[in-house]
Amino acid sequence: MDFEFHTVPSIVCQVGSAGRLDAILEKQEWLGAVLIVTDPGVRRAGLVDPSVSCLTAAGRRVAVFDDVVADPPESTVLAAVEFARGFNPDIIIGIGGGSAMDTAKIVAVLLGTDQPLDLMYGVGAVQGRRKIPLILIPTTAGTGSEVTPIAIVTTGATVKKGIVAPQLLPDMAILDAALTTGLPRTVTAHTGIDAMVHAIEAYTSRHKKNPLSDALARRALTLLWDNLVPVLSDGNDMTARENMLLGACLAGQAFANAPVGAVHALAYPIGGIYHVTHGLSNALVLPHVLRFNLAAARTHYRELAHVVNAGTTAESFIEAIEGKCVASGIERRLRDVKIPHNALGDLAQSAMLQTRLLANNPRDMSLSYAQLIYEQAW
Ligand SMILES: NC(=O)c1ccc[n+]([C@@H]2O[C@H](COP(=O)([O-])OP(=O)(O)OC[C@H]3O[C@@H](n4cnc5c(N)ncnc54)[C@H](O)[C@@H]3O)[C@@H](O)[C@H]2O)c1
Ligand SMILES: [Fe+2]
Repeated sequence: MDFEFHTVPSIVCQVGSAGRLDAILEKQEWLGAVLIVTDPGVRRAGLVDPSVSCLTAAGRRVAVFDDVVADPPESTVLAAVEFARGFNPDIIIGIGGGSAMDTAKIVAVLLGTDQPLDLMYGVGAVQGRRKIPLILIPTTAGTGSEVTPIAIVTTGATVKKGIVAPQLLPDMAILDAALTTGLPRTVTAHTGIDAMVHAIEAYTSRHKKNPLSDALARRALTLLWDNLVPVLSDGNDMTARENMLLGACLAGQAFANAPVGAVHALAYPIGGIYHVTHGLSNALVLPHVLRFNLAAARTHYRELAHVVNAGTTAESFIEAIEGKCVASGIERRLRDVKIPHNALGDLAQSAMLQTRLLANNPRDMSLSYAQLIYEQAW
């Protein structure tokens, strides 16, 4: 079997590691000034403090850009780049959820090039090499962005576009579960389901699924499946938090190589137009897309049923994943998040523009099927 698999060169997984960044950087011989890219919520929660303190104590010049907006619009990214140019860092560190990490990735790339942002969208469009080290520290257990060569930007008012390029893959991902214990319950649920969707969609990815992505997806799904409910009932359970963080990271490595499909394609317009969180947008269409995919992915879903002890059939797997969504207490229908019925046609039109993702779906999507799926999800 021919395949390619790429991931980050280094992963550090250790409770408290964000407060030992100085030693970690020194060991890698990453010297000089550090720019931390984050968002106001993460900053307010004190999650950047351990890193800033230890780096400052080690005599480093440190600046924090904390104006990242969720589902970052281009204006956020460009403001971060301008801030970075003023500070002139030697190292970029993203601390936060996917929004902060994705912004950090693009800043690290844009700092070393004159290529305009709007020419970077799509697959492999970034030119030149990244010039400075990039380290990502997730504070949600969801996107897996710390190990993907992907950054998602909201362009115009509502359209989410991806930049997919090897230059976005960081030099190191640091998994510090202590940063996730304060993650609010709803964010924990939404981001945890996003990570599960990464594992499931990687496992059924049409062209690039391979033995390594499969192994990672299976292990990721087990970790996320077994730990989501425990972590929702006790957010301070450090073992469960670490398992979620690891699960999200493994799922990220899987879908970085075996890309996601129609669940994400149909979720993006929901997030883009109605500002429903990325994870919840996925959860709302998830069971309906999986049922649509049954005709092409039955064997894979049956295998996943065995992986998570959810019976022996593809149908029992889909029922169990619906049960997981119910147990996590999230909204279940598009109408619950105030999406009007007359918007479904526009959502379907918009989802069909996500051709990069739809190409990975095990079953061909069409406008009328997309509309039907939104109808079922409504
Ligand atoms: N790059 C990729 O591979 C990839 C993959 C999937 C999704 N994404 C993108 O990532 C973004 C979503 O990221 P996300 O789901 O991680 O959410 P997010 O980064 O948008 O953060 C959501 C909220 O949670 C808060 N938060 C984060 N960590 C916290 C913590 N530990 N304690 C308290 N509050 C905390 C943030 O302040 C923010 O308000 C979207 O733009 C999505 O499109 C990227
Ligand atoms: Fe996702």
